[in-house]
Amino acid sequence: MSHALAVFVSGTGRHLENFARLAAAGELDARVALALADREGIAALERAARFDVPTEVLDPERALDPTAFSERAFAAVEASGAELVALAGFLRKLVVPTRFAGRVLNIHPSLLPAFGGKGWWGDRVHRGVLERGCQFSGCSVHYVDDEYDHGPILLQRCVPVRADDTVEALAARVFEAELEAYPAALRVHFARARAQPPPP
Ligand code: GRF
Repeated sequence: MSHALAVFVSGTGRHLENFARLAAAGELDARVALALADREGIAALERAARFDVPTEVLDPERALDPTAFSERAFAAVEASGAELVALAGFLRKLVVPTRFAGRVLNIHPSLLPAFGGKGWWGDRVHRGVLERGCQFSGCSVHYVDDEYDHGPILLQRCVPVRADDTVEALAARVFEAELEAYPAALRVHFARARAQPPPP
C-alpha cells in the first residue's frame, strides 16, 4: 500500500524532488499527493509541476496568523488524501491540529537540540557549528509540535566537520546526509504506523 504524503515548501524543493523521484522509482512506498507552498514563484513549485505533484499556494500575502494559516493548510492536506506531512524547507510557523499529532515531520540541518529553534535556519546553522568548533554536525528528522525544531526525534545522521570547512562545504555535506535521512525516516514512520494502526 502506498502512503500519501503532503510536502510543505518555502524554497528550492530539493527534498520534494527527492521524494517524488524515489516514489517514482519504487524506492519509497509513497506518492506525493500535495506540495503546499506559502510563497509564489519559488523553485519548489516548478519542481512539483515537473513531477506532476498537485500544488497549492496558501496566503502568499501573509495575511493569516499561524492558527488560521494552519487550519487552511491541514484542510488542504485532508482534501488531498495525504496521511503524513513532511516539512521541507518550510519557514512558516504552524500550529499542528490535534488530529495531526504524530503525523507531521520536519528535517533540520543540525544535530538537534543543538543549533535549533527560532532563527536557526539555513547557513546560520552551519556558521554556528563552525564558530563553536564542533567536530560533528548532521541532520535531524523530528516530529513537529508547536515549538520550532522541538518535537521527538525520529532519526539523525552525523557528518564530520573538517578543519578547513567553509559554511558552503559543510552545508553541502549535511545536505547529502539529508537526502538519505529524510526518506529513511519516512520508512521508519511507515513501519511504525503499520505496527500500530490507528484506532477505528
Ligand atoms: C534543508 O537544509 C533542510 O534541512 C531545511 O531546509 C532545507 C531544504 O531545502 N529545513 P529544500 O527546499 O528541500 O531544497
